[in-house]
Amino acid sequence: MGTMDHPLSPPAAPSVPVERAGARLTVDLDAIRANYRLLRQQAGPAACAGVMKADAYGLGMAAVAPALVREGCRVFFTAHVDEGMRLRTLVPPDATIFVLHGPPPGATRAFLEHDLVPVLNDPAQIADWRAAARTLGRVLPAAIQFDTGMSRMGLAPADLQALLDDPARLDGIRPVLAMSHLACADEAAHPLNALQCERFRAGLERLRARFPGLPGSLANSSGIFLGGAFHHQLARPGAALYGINPQPGTANPLRQPVSLAASIVQTRTVQAGDIVGYGAHFTACAPTRIATISIGYADGWLRSLSGRGHVFIDGARVPVVGNVSMDSITLDVSAIPAARVAPGQLVELLGAHQTVDDVAFEAGTIGYEVLTRLGSRFHRSYLGLA
Ligand SMILES: Cc1ncc(COP(=O)(O)O)c(C=O)c1O
Repeated sequence: MGTMDHPLSPPAAPSVPVERAGARLTVDLDAIRANYRLLRQQAGPAACAGVMKADAYGLGMAAVAPALVREGCRVFFTAHVDEGMRLRTLVPPDATIFVLHGPPPGATRAFLEHDLVPVLNDPAQIADWRAAARTLGRVLPAAIQFDTGMSRMGLAPADLQALLDDPARLDGIRPVLAMSHLACADEAAHPLNALQCERFRAGLERLRARFPGLPGSLANSSGIFLGGAFHHQLARPGAALYGINPQPGTANPLRQPVSLAASIVQTRTVQAGDIVGYGAHFTACAPTRIATISIGYADGWLRSLSGRGHVFIDGARVPVVGNVSMDSITLDVSAIPAARVAPGQLVELLGAHQTVDDVAFEAGTIGYEVLTRLGSRFHRSYLGLA
């Protein structure tokens, strides 16, 4: 099937009609496609997958996956089997979908019915997949993940050794990928990178003794920028597709696909000594113009941004004052012309003046968390839909 033949499914993330929404989220699919091209070029000659877990990091898998398909992406990763099932309806039949968490007990059927490939992470998952193959009388594909130092998922070194010592454990299983995951790839100088790189190379070589030509995959977004030794045959970027800087501290080579703007609900002038917001954590020291905007921690604007950070009005930095509420935050707009802060007008939270990484830094977290917390009450729109 040609890439253009595949129907583009409409974005499935909930979208509130624009006139009723408190905030507007815009996702630029052309920017995501450009990021994919850059990552694929950087990872080349390795192939480049797209990581779609958590609804494409909160941006809407139903729009993001077909956009990557248009760029020729044919390998995808989800975390959960249900995510994989949904993704299967969005990509061409020849696309491979790996499910990182592997098959939970009882979910074998879903894998087979939706043509999903499990990542097998421990001996029990391998035994279950092998049993499924035996029951069906078929050889079933799988990725094998082994741990190289993160101690989160994948076969422990002793389990990998046991597998190599007793190859019958893989009877009925056709490994199509060997993979591992880097713990510190966003810190290029971290010594664990070289250690994991070498452990992966060695483990892959041993697996290839039994499965010649088995492709390997180690690099996430940041790993792509650590050099060719990390690339192997398949890179697995998620965050960088969505604009997160893969190497903090160096210039971000990626485009920013996400814009977020919230509307002003109310403005008022408070006097010296008046408090603003829950907990009375902000006290005005002079007459201050306060604007309340329609976004809060229930929408993913983290409560740790209480009294911290900025939004932008016509490019001017406007400080957040007081605590973040569930549905609103308060701004000191004293320096902004009154005509520009009327109810209904929009302020920029993410966009040309502020990236996801900027907000994450202020919030004491990472861009991944900011993106994946983005809420369900926005008006969502997509630029670059085919
Ligand atoms: C196993 C695995 N591979 C790839 C990725 C993508 O990583 P990143 O978003 O840092 O590119 C993740 C995400 O955490 C992951 O868990």
